[in-house]
Amino acid sequence: MEQLKLLHKVDADVWYSDSKISLLHLAVINIRMVVVKLDTGGLWLHSPIQIDDQLFKEINSLGKVEHIVAPNCFHHLFASSAKARYPEAVLWAAPGLKQRKKDILFDAVINDEVTDWGNTLEYEHIGGMPKLNEVVFLHKPSKTLICSDFIFNITDESNFLMKCLWKLAGTYKKFGQGREWRFLVSNSFDEVYSVNKILKWDIVRIVMAHGEIKVCTNMELFEALNKGKTNFYSES
Ligand SMILES: [Fe+2]
Repeated sequence: MEQLKLLHKVDADVWYSDSKISLLHLAVINIRMVVVKLDTGGLWLHSPIQIDDQLFKEINSLGKVEHIVAPNCFHHLFASSAKARYPEAVLWAAPGLKQRKKDILFDAVINDEVTDWGNTLEYEHIGGMPKLNEVVFLHKPSKTLICSDFIFNITDESNFLMKCLWKLAGTYKKFGQGREWRFLVSNSFDEVYSVNKILKWDIVRIVMAHGEIKVCTNMELFEALNKGKTNFYSES
């Protein structure tokens, strides 16, 4: 097996790799891809980052990539290049993303009919937020919640402009949702319904696209999501 330098183990059959992207050449934001080995043996890539030759070798040493997931309407930047690396993999779009990004040749849309992720992954499309349409996943064997912009855990930030942006979002040195989340909600009934389903999952940690991996129960997630709100979401 290739020595893993860019991939880091989260738990059995779950890894992550971090990268950075430039925002308008002004700020640099940290991003994270998650790799899961399904019970079928195939690999599932969540929110792909740029896959260079070294990362390509490391991923290949774990198995064959069968699925690539663009999990919300913002996390699609490296979807096409990941598909080019793994032309036989199915490139999945979050609901609405295929219509929005016609230049990306998605193979399928994540919807209720997805069944071939077997016993490994549960998922929930967060309703009422058509501009974002995030799909959040649970790796059931390790009880790991995998998400993109659903929640952040920014413990520090070296980039000055990003530090200002995190402060503006109210998430600098905090574990919680950004202020922008509520601006993206157009139907809070649907959004709350989805989040309450996620809160019923058995969770021990969260691996998010931005911020440090958080060891966290679903009760701690409930408290973090409700911070600043009056029990907006329900206790599971
Ligand atoms: Fe993001």
